[in-house]
Amino acid sequence: MDANSQEERHVSASRLPDDAAGVAEAARLLRAGRLVSFPTETVYGLGADATDGAAVAAIYEAKGRPSFNPLIVHVPSLSDAEALACFDPGARARADACWPGPLTLVVPRRPGALSDLVTAGLETVAIRVPAHPLARALLAAVGRPVAAPSANPSGRISPTTAEHVLQGLGDRIAAVLDGGPCAVGLESTILGWDDADPVVLRPGGLPAEALEGALGTVPRAAVASDGVAAPGMLTSHYAPRARVRLDVTDPMTGEIWLGCGDCPGAMRNLSPSGVLREAAANLFSHLRALDAAASEGTTIAVAPVPEHGLGVAINDRLRRAAAPRDG
Ligand code: TXA
Ligand code: MG
Repeated sequence: MDANSQEERHVSASRLPDDAAGVAEAARLLRAGRLVSFPTETVYGLGADATDGAAVAAIYEAKGRPSFNPLIVHVPSLSDAEALACFDPGARARADACWPGPLTLVVPRRPGALSDLVTAGLETVAIRVPAHPLARALLAAVGRPVAAPSANPSGRISPTTAEHVLQGLGDRIAAVLDGGPCAVGLESTILGWDDADPVVLRPGGLPAEALEGALGTVPRAAVASDGVAAPGMLTSHYAPRARVRLDVTDPMTGEIWLGCGDCPGAMRNLSPSGVLREAAANLFSHLRALDAAASEGTTIAVAPVPEHGLGVAINDRLRRAAAPRDG
């Protein structure tokens, strides 16, 4: 499907306002087993009641997601998370330091508390406590854990506005709770454990510097080629339709340029002054805008992004967007 037919897709989801009535309606729909997209500080999630197998199955169906790719469970607090999973002192220390916020912890699940489909058969569960006030209000109103991957068709760019959600999934979900643009703009950092040693399974909205703090350095997990140990690391992901070329300081004729820092002539710039937080927040919406502007065969050339702080996660997403893909 091209960008135009995606725009024209029949939209049936309702757009719920950022107020008490919007939250109450979103909670009612979730409790009734429907799919509702909601904002978090990272990206918009595609939510379903994590205790309801049929509702969780509907997530996989709406996204067209491979069934081996498990989902993140969202809860309002660490104590709610502890009802679903086992936190050893190391996991609890990370949760205490970083929640609410853009960190997901992969911890051993407790039997029975969640639909098995949420974890796609794994013994562990990915959990996070989001910081966005609207997400927190919604989770409190639902009173159940909410499973939510990013609210995009599988393999496509993650949504950072309600409009993006409606463009990709508007005909497949009940509603989107509209909280405006996401402040962080990149998915959460995912931390797991290899025996007793913490490992970063996915770099994300919480930079390594912030994650480590007083708790010591954490290595990056080796990228799993089979997509099982760290299923989110499927190579071609976050793919625009146009080809993407990285580290471009001097774009070729016919390429459209995504700048970062001082890039005169760039069609869009992630952050003209090179501020990585701003670049992260703009990444997905700028990629979408350039992809929509690209005609057949046009390449999006991306300026170099510094490999530190949030730049690590930005570059991870850009490398996936640029990876060779099928068809
Ligand atoms: O910021 C975020 O994390 C957003 C918002 C909505 O919370 N969610 C998000 O979810 O990015 P999703 O489903 O697009 O990515 C979740 C990643 C996937 O790559 C999945 O494979 C991995 O988490 N994951 C989930 N459960 C896991 C587990 N038990 N072990 C290892 N990886 C897991
Ligand atoms: Mg995703």
